[in-house]
Amino acid sequence: MLRIEMADLSDIPIIASRIYRTTRSAFYEYASDVPPPGAMTDTPRDVEEDLRTGSQALLAVLGDSGRVAGVVRWRVTKGQLHFHRLAVIPSERRKGVASALLKALITEADRQRCTSIACDVRIGVSRNVALYEKFGFAHSGERIIARGGFTVRLGVMTLPLNMDTTEFGKGE
Ligand SMILES: CC(C)(COP(=O)(O)OP(=O)(O)OC[C@H]1O[C@@H](n2cnc3c(N)ncnc32)[C@H](O)[C@@H]1OP(=O)(O)O)[C@@H](O)C(=O)NCCC(=O)NCCS
Repeated sequence: MLRIEMADLSDIPIIASRIYRTTRSAFYEYASDVPPPGAMTDTPRDVEEDLRTGSQALLAVLGDSGRVAGVVRWRVTKGQLHFHRLAVIPSERRKGVASALLKALITEADRQRCTSIACDVRIGVSRNVALYEKFGFAHSGERIIARGGFTVRLGVMTLPLNMDTTEFGKGE
């Protein structure tokens, strides 16, 4: 049984450490990319800083063991919920963990009356694009960022929320 929990930010070092370990485990497969993703160069302190400066997090927790199977962080800016570092540990993939986190994010965005929800995607990782397209996200642009002396092109995928999003992801 999987449950989705809002991260308790009353003890940021503890929760940041759990988020850090889960995120790092998920993104490890990209460790040899040049440049490596930000998730691989983040330190626990970076996660703490992200939470202290306004990001929130959702955890997907396995009911039997209490183990964290997945995490995602987000913040709301100018009516848009932007999420980052969506991560599921390798042993729990293809079981709907990311989908459960995305559904909870969409509910949260609706609750906060956001007009859209968006994320950056690694161009060329079709698995991730397929995941977001399943929920109705579409490519809305590109962003170029500097990382480790390299220039990285990221795609932006957006889901407008002025529609009935409750239909997305049904039946999973
Ligand atoms: C991408 C990631 C979050 C998906 O997590 P997940 O829990 O396995 O995803 P779900 O089980 O909810 O899958 C939902 C849909 O995504 C797509 N998908 C997920 N993994 C896929 C794969 N390996 N190949 C093809 N499609 C895939 C499918 O459409 C899937 O639906 P289906 O299982 O009914 O076919 C996970 O693989 C991960 O953590 N990867 C490393 C970190 C990363 O790339 N994060 C995304 C940053 S943009």
